[in-house]
Amino acid sequence: MLQAVSFDDVLLVPKRTFGGSRKQVDLTTYICGRRMKVPIFSANMSSVTEAQMAVAMRRNDGLGVLHRMCSLKEQHQMVQDVYLGVSECTVHDTPAYVSIEGTAVKALERIHSVQHLQPYGYCVDVAHADSSDVEDTLVEIRKEFPNIPIMVGNYATPEGIENLLSCNVGDALNLSFKIGIGSGSQCTTRIVTGCGLPTLESIFRIRNRVPKTVGLIADGGFKNSGDIVKALAAGANAVMLGSLLAGTKEAPGNVIKNSGGLYKVYRGSASFGQKFESGKKGYIEGEETLVPYKGHLTTILNSLVEGIKSGFSYCGALNMEEIQDNAEFVQITQHGFKESTDHGNS
Ligand code: XMP
Repeated sequence: MLQAVSFDDVLLVPKRTFGGSRKQVDLTTYICGRRMKVPIFSANMSSVTEAQMAVAMRRNDGLGVLHRMCSLKEQHQMVQDVYLGVSECTVHDTPAYVSIEGTAVKALERIHSVQHLQPYGYCVDVAHADSSDVEDTLVEIRKEFPNIPIMVGNYATPEGIENLLSCNVGDALNLSFKIGIGSGSQCTTRIVTGCGLPTLESIFRIRNRVPKTVGLIADGGFKNSGDIVKALAAGANAVMLGSLLAGTKEAPGNVIKNSGGLYKVYRGSASFGQKFESGKKGYIEGEETLVPYKGHLTTILNSLVEGIKSGFSYCGALNMEEIQDNAEFVQITQHGFKESTDHGNS
């Protein structure tokens, strides 16, 4: 049986570092041909990305992906709020991605509702995107919108992506793929269904087979900046974060005070609370929890970016291309993992 590695199973071997400091590291990446100075998306979840988060992500050089757990009218309002909220916005576009369904009629309905605000792109949001339905949806969208950037996900393995790229879906440069099934912190998919693949394993498998020009966004399971460095080194062009950003001021929802301190609600997209609130039926593959309140997004993102740049520097890499070329992964033992974590009292 094959073994699959996740973030905690591996380390990057330190390499000769360059003369300067980590300040020289450039994290610039390209997704669907668009430049991002910080390779981080906020997750398209109702407790992570609405307008306020998307505006803050843009101001911090990342991007937000607006969720779709709402009506067309509510989503239109969100896109408009981002458009109005970002001062550097030109009359031409809104710097956020907009989530749409995996079925053609519903997906096109959402696109028609907001396309006049020219979002950066759309995210076909399906728990398991490796399906002919998703391929048909893409083909239908492309008939009307041949060039709009589209992110599709989620995928665990390369076959689905290869199948989709072989359909009539236009230039692959305008497509990117979200990678990771079952690794989200609120996800119970692996428990409920017995299926999934560690996000890092998915990146290795997919990057090996899919051309470098196709953008990969690693999604789910990030606990710290070290995990992000590993994902980028393994071949992802960017990452998507849920739990690491859910406690920030800019995430939707009020701050909750209890005896333990300040918290915000973080809700899986397939959790009971989410389904109940949006009036949707269906079985449950997610949970809801309280995450500690973390204050402003800028503070959290800055510290993640510092950690990522430091990781690049340890790998002797100045940019995304170099980290992917230089990366040497080793699989570690349980003792190695223990050594990596806080063990001062053991
Ligand atoms: P993190 O680990 O950053 O993960 O909190 C965020 C990602 O988790 C996925 N997601 C879910 N997966 N059931 C799932 O199986 C859910 O209810 C659920 N909610 C979110 C999603 O890919 C998100 O970006």
